[in-house]
Amino acid sequence: EKGTYPHYMLKEIDEQPAVIRKIIQQYQNESGQLVIDQDIVDAVDQSDRVYIIAAGTSYHAGLVGKQLIEKIAHIPVEVHIASEFAYNTPLLSANPLFIFISQSGETADSRQVLVHVKKLGYKTLTVTNVPGSTLSREADYTLLLHAGPEIAVASTKAYTAQIAVLSILSEVIAKKRGLEVNFDLIHELGIVANAIEVLCDSKDEFEAIAREYLSTTRNAFFIGRGIDFYVVLEASLKLKEISYIQAEGFAGGELKHGTIALIEDGTPIIALATQESVNLSIRGNVKEVVARGANPCIISMKGLEMEEDRFVIPEVHEILTPLVSVIPTQLIAYYAALHRECDVDKPRNLAKSVTVE
Ligand code: M6R
Repeated sequence: EKGTYPHYMLKEIDEQPAVIRKIIQQYQNESGQLVIDQDIVDAVDQSDRVYIIAAGTSYHAGLVGKQLIEKIAHIPVEVHIASEFAYNTPLLSANPLFIFISQSGETADSRQVLVHVKKLGYKTLTVTNVPGSTLSREADYTLLLHAGPEIAVASTKAYTAQIAVLSILSEVIAKKRGLEVNFDLIHELGIVANAIEVLCDSKDEFEAIAREYLSTTRNAFFIGRGIDFYVVLEASLKLKEISYIQAEGFAGGELKHGTIALIEDGTPIIALATQESVNLSIRGNVKEVVARGANPCIISMKGLEMEEDRFVIPEVHEILTPLVSVIPTQLIAYYAALHRECDVDKPRNLAKSVTVE
């Protein structure tokens, strides 16, 4: 039930700190170590390449998951849109492991790939919020998100839960491989949960940003570099899906290769700046669009902030920033949809799970 909340989406955004804490608890043993079923750990560890298959928001979580698995567990990862993989299968490695990320566990595009790769004899793992769902039943292994039912069509808490679970998987695999992990993931995820709480308490600020930048615009751009690029893809999907504003997420450096032609006086550009290595370059990209009349809104992370920033998110470990930087974009999308009198929880033309190919 949505209780006192006007919409499920807002309730589910607010649940994210609790979801992260629940995940830490669910994947921890009595001695405080992160644990995952040995069979799953072995299957991932023994694979020479991980193929992540997913759609929509789950695909965007998969892109972040690739970073986590490659950086922490040192296994190469490819991320594929399920409906593309099904018809355009890439050359596979000798010993692949397939991870299906799906909130509902019912997405037909992903299931089609699952059925296909099972026939080829490959190992499969489903990361889902719904125990007993089709993808969970049909895969060899399942990891649960423990996010509680997600009712709003726009996925929010499932995205953060997917990333949190993939970070735990990466850490456990790294330990099994004897790799050094130079941070305490349980501690860092705790910091993330607190940071999300701070952001959920800043709703007025995101409502003001939505009102100022998005209440009448026809289009909007999100830009980021590195891991922020993956988050802006998700940010633009969320905004499109519920507010019907034409939105695009771009890698900051790619704008000048064509898209910058779309910038007009007042075009809103929301930029994420959470990565030290690209902090100056993303700000350079913002300057390029401002010179063409864009209306910039920079959301940065503590420690990297500059005077022109519109909002500064609390600092978290640099590899976990998507868990935190996505929250302002969820709330901005929510308020933009609200201001434009859209049906936030049930956007037009969409269903919660897409069970047709
Ligand atoms: O249940 P799934 O995670 O497999 O669903 C995949 C997409 O259909 C889903 O994430 C969709 O993109 C959301 N409506 C986005 O908010």
